[in-house]
Amino acid sequence: MKIIILADEAAAVSCAARTLTDKVRAKPTAVLGLATGETMIALYRTILEISTTEPLSFSEISTFNLDEYVGLPFGHSASYRTYMQNNLFSHADFDPALTHFLAGDAKDLVLESSRYEQLIIDVGGIDLQLLGLGENGHIGFNEPSSSLASRTRIKTLTKTTLEANKINFKNIDKMPLCSLTMGVGTILDSRQCLLLATGSRKAPAVAQMVEGPVTATCPASALQLHPNTLVILDDQAARDLKMRDYYEYVHSGVSNVT
Ligand code: GLP
Repeated sequence: MKIIILADEAAAVSCAARTLTDKVRAKPTAVLGLATGETMIALYRTILEISTTEPLSFSEISTFNLDEYVGLPFGHSASYRTYMQNNLFSHADFDPALTHFLAGDAKDLVLESSRYEQLIIDVGGIDLQLLGLGENGHIGFNEPSSSLASRTRIKTLTKTTLEANKINFKNIDKMPLCSLTMGVGTILDSRQCLLLATGSRKAPAVAQMVEGPVTATCPASALQLHPNTLVILDDQAARDLKMRDYYEYVHSGVSNVT
């Protein structure tokens, strides 16, 4: 794991945005795995700012979103498809035919999950997988107890996650209790992972992910097994890291040391 700790949220978001836009420039046909949540809103805003001030095209980029709520119809205001439209896709030159989502309202959710897995294989795999981090250590919607070898599937949401995400639902009673999510194994198959976490609420999960044991209790800890993971943190999210001095020493101004 390469752990970059920056002074504040703006610096962390900007570093993550640069990593992603550099990838798009280096490989205009790249396959990106995309994440949602509050943290990503700032990231997508920064990417859009870069795309309006510098030459940058997404027209040949393929995308796969990590997860979706089960049961939400196409166009529902809280669906991640709507989130991506509002926060990224409708403001840049993405080709809608190349943006892929899990259909949370599919009749057969098992079939839908295997369709998605196959589609990722068919395009040659994910080049760069963006990840946020749940306060309980989830990545995608892989809640604690998820198999570290899991593939795309239905996952019941924990009360912590329902609580954290209820802000997106006008009627909490109608909030879906389940999701479809890429599995931990699916995520680990990506050629590179980029996890962005900011704010003190994420500090305990960050410490478990980076310095705790690899355990299904903290699904993000499986990233320790990935050979090319970049973790970008702000000062607050890095608060509980015991080896923080070392990470800062390794990466302060010495960009080639890993
Ligand atoms: C949701 C998403 C995750 C995301 C997490 C963190 O649960 N399914 O992919 O990483 O939230 O979100 P936030 O950035 O809002 O804390």
